[in-house]
Amino acid sequence: MKSIASAPGKIILFGEHFVVYGIKAILATIDKRVTVTSEKTNEPYISIISSLASEKIPTSSDLTEVNKAVKPFFYLATRAIKEYNHHGGINIKIESEIPSGVGLGSSSACCVAAAASIMGLFSKLNKEEILGLAIEAEKTIFKNTSGADCTVCTFGGIIIYDKETGFLNLESKPDLEFVIANSKMTHSTEKVVANVKKFKEKNPAKFSSLCNKVEELIKRVNLEIQRNEHIAIGKSMKENQEYLEIIGVSNEKLQNMISLANKTSFGSKLTGAGGGGCIIALVDKSNSHATIKELESEYHECFKTKIDFVGVQFA
Ligand code: PMV
Repeated sequence: MKSIASAPGKIILFGEHFVVYGIKAILATIDKRVTVTSEKTNEPYISIISSLASEKIPTSSDLTEVNKAVKPFFYLATRAIKEYNHHGGINIKIESEIPSGVGLGSSSACCVAAAASIMGLFSKLNKEEILGLAIEAEKTIFKNTSGADCTVCTFGGIIIYDKETGFLNLESKPDLEFVIANSKMTHSTEKVVANVKKFKEKNPAKFSSLCNKVEELIKRVNLEIQRNEHIAIGKSMKENQEYLEIIGVSNEKLQNMISLANKTSFGSKLTGAGGGGCIIALVDKSNSHATIKELESEYHECFKTKIDFVGVQFA
């Protein structure tokens, strides 16, 4: 028997970096997915096949010996074997539509889909249970994960994340479409976050005033999103981008992409840590084609996406 589950990637619509300092952030899932297929075997191995790795690891191995890229899968598989007293191994296949390492939540989507698929060989878990396991799995590669990405990938839709008080799912389902363009510069979230910390320490008053501005922006944009006000949301994206530029997380390539996107879209900004990764541009039917055309001439990985309201799903 095969157990198949998929989970969506994500974008940060507003508030990245400032969220580290207690300001709310708004995240949404996209209609690009990771699909994980698991199958029980009688051999004592965990086999993991993806476009990034192909490994066959004895079930008796210690997690610390396992290659980082496959740790979450090995963790979940050995946990399932133990919990459900399975005498054998598990084959795991990962297929992804989400580019990795560019802030689109591919690793969280992998953890969520893998938790659902692997545990699904033994028992159908609910979304809360899947999320708990996915966060544990993600911690094997990213110790300090806030859990925000796994949460949005599990439940789908739009969430407002607050470091202190947790997550709130936005009830409304606005009809938002984005063009995502990939700079193909992979970024280290840790490094960019560390640089922002330095900026904050050097410019405490400036940083504090920016935090206040982003806080106001998030309050306003929350209403704009619920009312589906494309022009206002686009303007807010441009404003958020300005603040991200001031703290130094944008770069020449991202600026160029944003200028191209702003010619035709409602507004655009980088998404995630910056220093590379992707930009998002808000579009609708009237300007999506022109925006893709504008960006595609220079940046080949460029695609249209909608918000996913499904989250993790069994096939
Ligand atoms: O690029 P990503 O998806 O890893 O996003 C990082 C978001 C930050 O706000 C920069 C860091 C964080 O932990 O929230």
